[in-house]
Amino acid sequence: MGPDDLREDRSRTGVWRRAGLLPRTAHAVTLGEGTTPLLPLAGLLGDRARVHAKVEALNPTLSFKDRAMALAASVALDLGLPGLVLASTGNAAVSAAAYAAAAGLPCRVLCGTGSRAALKLAAAAAHGADVELVEGDYSSAYARAVRAEDEGWFNVTTTYRNPVLAEAYRALAVELLDDLGHVPDVVVVPVGAGPLLRGLLGGFEDAVSAGVAARTPRLVGVQARACAPLARAWRHGDWMASLAVPPPVLPTRAGAIADSLRGYEREGLLTLAAVRDSGGTVVDVGEDDMARATTASAGRGLLVEPAAAAALAALADDEVAALVPDGGSAVVVLTGHGAKEPLAAAPAVAAAEGGER
Ligand SMILES: Cc1ncc(COP(=O)(O)O)c(C=O)c1O
Repeated sequence: MGPDDLREDRSRTGVWRRAGLLPRTAHAVTLGEGTTPLLPLAGLLGDRARVHAKVEALNPTLSFKDRAMALAASVALDLGLPGLVLASTGNAAVSAAAYAAAAGLPCRVLCGTGSRAALKLAAAAAHGADVELVEGDYSSAYARAVRAEDEGWFNVTTTYRNPVLAEAYRALAVELLDDLGHVPDVVVVPVGAGPLLRGLLGGFEDAVSAGVAARTPRLVGVQARACAPLARAWRHGDWMASLAVPPPVLPTRAGAIADSLRGYEREGLLTLAAVRDSGGTVVDVGEDDMARATTASAGRGLLVEPAAAAALAALADDEVAALVPDGGSAVVVLTGHGAKEPLAAAPAVAAAEGGER
């Protein structure tokens, strides 16, 4: 990896602007993903450290998954595979459906009833995907997606099962370094199984090996307390022993990151190792913390979903704040937009529309 591999090629579109960081493909499916804004967020750590948001919610289908799906759809075309199949908590479903449509491929979405992702699934169906609800949680849908591999479909479930996908997140790290102009002390990332976090670490490592960064940041993984197998394993210390015991799963606003890892527990080790290698930590945040952070973010003009607001909420955690030195900097990855989540109508609108009925 040299500095040329990291350079942006503005004659290309979407993730292909950083093709040097991606596996080589003959096809280059794109909807214009990537190159998302990096915005300063004043006052989040008082005036002692700077905080920026990498606004991945502004990708074409409003989440970071578009980076992975641009690559996945291209690989599927290269390999002549019949279509994309995936288990999803919602965001990956919309994304896979849109990129399959752009590639002219069929897409089959499996979603657990527990994910409560009606708007996201409606968008996936609008893109032409075949949407199937599976009784249970994300892990139940995951098992079904694995079975579809036997029919030759490309399983683009965004865990580690398809190793191609996390490769696409490397460029996110390199963009962030380019825009920030320095290596942040901490990068905070919402995690389900955690390929985004691991892909980011890969990108920071690319920058170090290319000689354009002196070190990697500490990576902080954030889970919703209602379903937090990685945070629990991190605290426990014996990761595998902890992951082997199914975590309690409660209803959560952050269904997008509620992954119990049931049936693929070992995948959690990859995320935990990436956190450890970076000198970071894994924390969980409560429903009220996420609700407050969602409202505060919207009040700044950034409408994000609760799973993304989890990263903002984590900055209030003493352990996370302590990783950011005075005068240092942190970046939160705002992974998904609020427009795909149910919102309460403004009181005046609710009253007016109610009156019309
Ligand atoms: C909004 C949002 N943030 C974060 C994540 C976590 O992604 P992963 O654990 O796959 O890296 C997801 C996964 O679906 C998501 O939808």
